[in-house]
Amino acid sequence: MTIQRFDDEDALAAALATRVLEAIVANPELVLGLPTGRTPLAFYRELRERSGDWSKVRTFNLDEFVGVDGDHPGSYRAFMQSELFDHVSIDPANIGMLDGRAPDLKAECRRYEAAIADADGIDLQILGIGANGHIGFNEPADGLCAHTHIAELEQKSREANAQLFGGDWTAVPGRALSMGMATILGARNIVLMATGQEKADAVYQMIEGLITPQVPASFLQVHPRVTVMLDAKAAIRLKPDTAR
Ligand code: GLP
Repeated sequence: MTIQRFDDEDALAAALATRVLEAIVANPELVLGLPTGRTPLAFYRELRERSGDWSKVRTFNLDEFVGVDGDHPGSYRAFMQSELFDHVSIDPANIGMLDGRAPDLKAECRRYEAAIADADGIDLQILGIGANGHIGFNEPADGLCAHTHIAELEQKSREANAQLFGGDWTAVPGRALSMGMATILGARNIVLMATGQEKADAVYQMIEGLITPQVPASFLQVHPRVTVMLDAKAAIRLKPDTAR
């Protein structure tokens, strides 16, 4: 893992936006994996404010709530439209999102895996991390799913998403569709970003701990091209010279 430290989340977001826009210049048909959450907000703001040719870029989002329509303000589809897609030149046909309202959720998961394979895989997967070490909605468990699947959400994760549902965590769906660990680890390059002290333990376990399904992000240790971008608070438990 390559560890990059930044003074604050704005510096991190600027550096990540530069990396993504340079990757798009190098490969206009870049296939990007994208996260939601509070952490990437500054990154998406940077992308909105800078010019880039998104016309041939393809994207696949990590996850979506079950039972929530794309028009619902709590959906990750709505989040992505307002934070990024409505503001850049991306072709709507090139936006990959899971449909949480699909009548057959297992078939929807299979469709998504096939769509990613048809795109020849993900070139650059951007990730956040949950305070419990989850990535996408791969929650800590005795075992993890390899491929896109229906995930049961922990209360902690529903609470973390409550602001999308009027501040009421019980209004957050208890299930989501999520890329699996093999879907994520299949990306050719991965960048995980984490900011704030509430992520410091998860970041420490991800980097310094054993690989365990109780910390899903720890599986990133097996991937050959992972960059972890941290602000000072998220890096607080790491030794100053931690870099691998
Ligand atoms: C969410 C998403 C994850 C995200 C994580 C952290 O629930 N499913 O993809 O990385 O939890 O979110 P935040 O950035 O708001 O802390």
